[in-house]
Amino acid sequence: MDAQHMPSDFSKILFSEPQLLARIAELAKDVERDYAGKDLLLVGVLKGATVLLSDFSRALSRHIDIEWMAVSSYGSGTKSSGVVRILKDLDADITGRNVLVVEDILDSGLTLSWLLGNLRSRGAATVEVLTLLRKPEAAKVKVDPKYVGFDIPNEFVVGYGLDYAERYRNLRDIAVLAPHVYS
Ligand code: PRP
Repeated sequence: MDAQHMPSDFSKILFSEPQLLARIAELAKDVERDYAGKDLLLVGVLKGATVLLSDFSRALSRHIDIEWMAVSSYGSGTKSSGVVRILKDLDADITGRNVLVVEDILDSGLTLSWLLGNLRSRGAATVEVLTLLRKPEAAKVKVDPKYVGFDIPNEFVVGYGLDYAERYRNLRDIAVLAPHVYS
């Protein structure tokens, strides 16, 4: 669905689908260059990264493997707690692999910080992060993603995989949710 189908739900459209796909194509070129001649395993973090990983993986003109993890931050509403548990683990051994974690958003950094520690402890050759969105003002712990699509303000964004109460993941755009929807 498009934001124009329900304009009152959003206070602003941040990125349209064409803008997102153009940036993803640039990121794909960077990744192709950096991993030329090397094996590459993309690890998508459910559920938010599903749309991004679908588009990003197809933008790559090379072979890759794809794995999925599901993790849950204990906490409620719109805040992460930093206490993470694995809901679905990788299906593959990542020993010696070049792992690129693909995330929709880096917010407080608590989820990714925990996840990177977990993946590095499994003996991967390299573990790096690609995040489509990053909220610099929301950072609570330092995470250095190798690839960032866009830095955004500290506002509640939905769409392109990102949800509010499981809704809006199928929005083509990324938009700021209007406060009346969640307050
Ligand atoms: C979102 C997002 C990241 C995390 C970022 O996932 O996909 O994994 O929050 O927040 P942080 O930097 O503050 O830790 P969420 O837990 O909402 O699950 P979802 O992907 O299934 O929507």
